[in-house]
Amino acid sequence: MNKLNIVKYYNDTFPKTIDILNSSPVYDTKSKEDKIELIKKLLKEKDAKLVAHYYTHEDVQEVAEITGGNVSDSLEMAKFGASQPSKMLVVAGVRFMGETAKILSPEKKILMPTLDAECSLDLNCPAADLKEFSEQYPEREIVVYANTSAEVKAMADWVVTSSIAVKLIEYLNKKNIKIIWAPDKHLGSYLNEKTNADMKLWNASCIVHEEFKAEALLKLKEKNQDAAILVHPESSAEVVKLADVVGSTSQLIKACQDLPNQKMIVATDNRIFYKMQKAAPNKILIEAPTGGKGATCISCAHCPWMAMNNLDNLIDTLINEKNEIHVDEEIRRKAFVSTNKMIDFAKTL
Ligand code: 13P
Ligand code: SF4
Repeated sequence: MNKLNIVKYYNDTFPKTIDILNSSPVYDTKSKEDKIELIKKLLKEKDAKLVAHYYTHEDVQEVAEITGGNVSDSLEMAKFGASQPSKMLVVAGVRFMGETAKILSPEKKILMPTLDAECSLDLNCPAADLKEFSEQYPEREIVVYANTSAEVKAMADWVVTSSIAVKLIEYLNKKNIKIIWAPDKHLGSYLNEKTNADMKLWNASCIVHEEFKAEALLKLKEKNQDAAILVHPESSAEVVKLADVVGSTSQLIKACQDLPNQKMIVATDNRIFYKMQKAAPNKILIEAPTGGKGATCISCAHCPWMAMNNLDNLIDTLINEKNEIHVDEEIRRKAFVSTNKMIDFAKTL
């Protein structure tokens, strides 16, 4: 991280946490370069591609880049995985991303560096509870965020990611379709405000984005009046209100490149800075504060589950072909319909 122009304001505990998470005893004797060489070799031998999310450690992103894999947001990860002729995909991210890859590519072996990488949105939206909720509104279509289990996707009419969510809700609203939205209440309220659609919202949130605090952000902006504020829509409405640009991870990277401002205050997981800085090398990137009044800073701008992916468990996974994703075939087939509708809808945009 030292090479990047990143200004840290409140998160002094962050690097320590990540060091602990990344210190697996298995391959500790190898240098980073040796590990990367080994991963390159293994990916080739196994006919595998590495697909990584922007929130993973920059070493993992780097290997994905240099081996012809993919580093992107959740929609692009899904699209890339489905378009690959390789026999195997290794998905570095959180569990729903591995499951989405399996839903779209059942013929491929899908592995993950760890199966313990969860997502608070997925965890807080069990299929049985959503079923009960949706049964109260049988006339509504169920639209779920990609950050959900295969079982939840199987119940849904549509799956969507943040990069195309506004467009999809606008489309459904024009057809006068009433909506059940799950699980992210913040993204749900943002969509509701943008489109005025008739939506019933599930009550879950992202533990990382909820940590960004509006009052502290406002103070930071006062000190950096020339900065643009970039916000992921999983953040609270108060934080979203302060944004110059609200968007998915890819859209925020693009905004950083395109906006004339020299400084960017970024309210999303700080591992995005690896790609953001590459896309806009001369810009100064500032972490949005997770401190200030009312702060508890459990996540400190980095997803604890994304942080579980590292070079060591990636090597272990490839050597032992472990941590395979399995999805019950009946659930997968149903989830394929709603997930593939998202891919098809994205093509129309
Ligand atoms: P993106 O689709 O914008 O990459 O978001 C995924 C995610 O989990 C954000 O917290
Ligand atoms: Fe889930 Fe939030 Fe982590 Fe994204 S950052 S994977 S929404 S917990």
